Amino acid sequence: MKYKILPVLSLFLLGCSFGLSADVLNVSTPESTLLLQATKGGQLKFLYYGDLLDAKEVKSVAETTPARYDAYPFFGSYPQNESALSVVHPDGNLTLDMEVEGWKTVKNGNATETVITLKDRKYPVTVNVNYLTREGDNVIETWTDVTNKSDSVLKLLRFDSGYLPIRKSDVWMSQLYGTWANEGRVEEAPLPHGMKVIQNKDGGRNSHTSHAEVMFSLDGKGRENEGRVIGAALCYSGNYKLRVNTDDTDYHHFFAGINEENSSYNLQPGETFVTPALALTYSSEGLSGVSRNFHRWGRNYRLAHGDRPRKVLLNSWEGVYFDINEDGMDRMMGDIASMGGELFVMDDGWFGVKYPRNNDSSSLGDWYVDTRKLPHGLKGLLDSAKKHGVKFGIWYEPEMTNSVSELYESHPEWIVNSVGRKPVEGRGGTQLVLDMGNPEVQDHVFDMIDTLLTNYPDIDYIKWDANAPIMSLGSNYLTKDNQSHTYIEYHRGFAKVMDRIRAKYPDVTIQACASGGGRANWGVLPWFDEFWVSDNTDALQRVYMQWGTSYFFPAIAMGSHISAAPNHQTFRTIPIKYRTDVAMSGRLGMEIQPANMTEEEKDFCRNAIAQYKEIRDVVQFGDIYRLLSPYDNKGAASLMYVSPDKDEAVYYWWKTETFVGQQLPRVPMAGLNPDKHYKVLELNRIDNSPLPYEGRTFSGRYLMSNGLEMPVTHDVDYHKRNDYSSRVLRLQAVD
Ligand code: GLA
Repeated sequence: MKYKILPVLSLFLLGCSFGLSADVLNVSTPESTLLLQATKGGQLKFLYYGDLLDAKEVKSVAETTPARYDAYPFFGSYPQNESALSVVHPDGNLTLDMEVEGWKTVKNGNATETVITLKDRKYPVTVNVNYLTREGDNVIETWTDVTNKSDSVLKLLRFDSGYLPIRKSDVWMSQLYGTWANEGRVEEAPLPHGMKVIQNKDGGRNSHTSHAEVMFSLDGKGRENEGRVIGAALCYSGNYKLRVNTDDTDYHHFFAGINEENSSYNLQPGETFVTPALALTYSSEGLSGVSRNFHRWGRNYRLAHGDRPRKVLLNSWEGVYFDINEDGMDRMMGDIASMGGELFVMDDGWFGVKYPRNNDSSSLGDWYVDTRKLPHGLKGLLDSAKKHGVKFGIWYEPEMTNSVSELYESHPEWIVNSVGRKPVEGRGGTQLVLDMGNPEVQDHVFDMIDTLLTNYPDIDYIKWDANAPIMSLGSNYLTKDNQSHTYIEYHRGFAKVMDRIRAKYPDVTIQACASGGGRANWGVLPWFDEFWVSDNTDALQRVYMQWGTSYFFPAIAMGSHISAAPNHQTFRTIPIKYRTDVAMSGRLGMEIQPANMTEEEKDFCRNAIAQYKEIRDVVQFGDIYRLLSPYDNKGAASLMYVSPDKDEAVYYWWKTETFVGQQLPRVPMAGLNPDKHYKVLELNRIDNSPLPYEGRTFSGRYLMSNGLEMPVTHDVDYHKRNDYSSRVLRLQAVD
């Protein structure tokens, strides 16, 4: 790639007490400014991150702000402070003493990269600290690369992607936590004194429990559509660690990077270690403002096909589980086609010859069609799909095997395992993880997907699953000195395979599934079009999970399916209306056996799918405004999406609990143009009579200051009453 080096336009010289000249580096986006101070032969300092500053303000702020903290702190001179990078030099020295050697800005298309090079005053080590912005976009990506210029190994003990000091006031942190089937729960609390650590050590997946993204609300508990908020997302597929040290200074000190535990890295002579990007964004429009920044950046630069509308699909898992057969698949394809769906995905259970995959205890790796179940193979299924006029997708778990499989019988050395020990087995009592750091394994995984997509170019979609953590850490492939590289090499190998697949098959849709929501991270999304939010499809619990997930990820990436009642995870019985109204706030799909649905339910879904297609662009490409949080326990939750031109919006309201005599708040809308007038239409209506405001027109100003009343119950015949209530409204600007 060719870079054009431009002069650093936005720099100016500052007087500096050491007689060295300091320059101010201005890394601005349309709505934010990050200021750094670089002194040749001196330090790289952080000055400011917040609201956009104009040139005059930059000068005043830079001249009056004490440059207290390093922009990227090294372990060494002040070991009592937390650091972002710590090493062991070949002679055993533990310290870094880095000075700025120079900096440059590099323009590449609409991206501008500011690169500051630091070098150690004594040892041959250099570090580039990088900041990347893109025209019109509000996210700053920062990362570092560390180069060993000596002729011996430099051991890296810690290697964070970035650091940010945050001025103490009443700073609240929003984080996501959870577990399998309960991902993306929101927790918001003031930052405590001491060290707050959020981390992952699963090895393979990294978002079931805590997430690698956080928000900092600078002015007390975060509000959705006002207040200053900083968002941070570490873009990495593997183990991570986010640390916030609240010490005796005036600042909270935020660090984010690859989790260094059991991952010390031997940097060879001449080798450069590149950390994953840390995406930072600032908004004065509250938590939803930060979400909108991440969503836009994600769709434009980080999500596979972020500009392509997603198809409405039926996935076979909760409909038939492992009970795959040709007739059943054909029927499901016909059913989803008849409801207006566009894609059918055959889940687990279709493969295995010597060991048929009838449950989760065998066959991963043996990606050969079980012709006892599917006599006409994938060709037969693709023919069925064509006949019904839908696309066809298929489930894989490419990074995995089972001890009961032909693959493991021929390559027992291909698994991640502490060398010489009996492997620890996961799901089904036999699941094992392939050692993706091994180039032979990479070739094998690539070849398998390559063969599939070459032989069956009509395959439209792959559900790429990952259902085991890394167990018994170690690699047969890596040398004994480099066993601590196992996690990192796994993810490098995974990235290489995905890069190869994407280079050859840029158009196929790939879903990141990992026992549900284990791979909701911006580090994987450049290769994936979407992720499966959770194996829990209960609509009420999804309100909470999807709410949290939307903090960082856009609806277009969130697989959200209508499933059966009673729900298979919670056994809760939720009416089809509510199940659909929740699923329609993400990438709509179905996860159900249509043969078990009533004709009335099918009609309802047929109508809902048709309506979803009309609002799909607003949901998938619009701006989110969260309005009423389910976590605030007000009895309802509400959010909306608004098209960028503010001509179209979709408003969702879901009741989250039911008591007689309940007093629910009226929810003012947000994000509309106050001066435009919007016509209101209810979607998925079940009531006998329309809402009083159906078809009426209101100004954006009224809708945002007053909002519309949502009746607490539905006006339906007595025998159809239940304890659920939800609304989806479409708003269209009229002249
Ligand atoms: C994981 C996924 C499910 C399903 C099963 C199949 O649990 O999250 O959606 O694909 O695997 O075994």
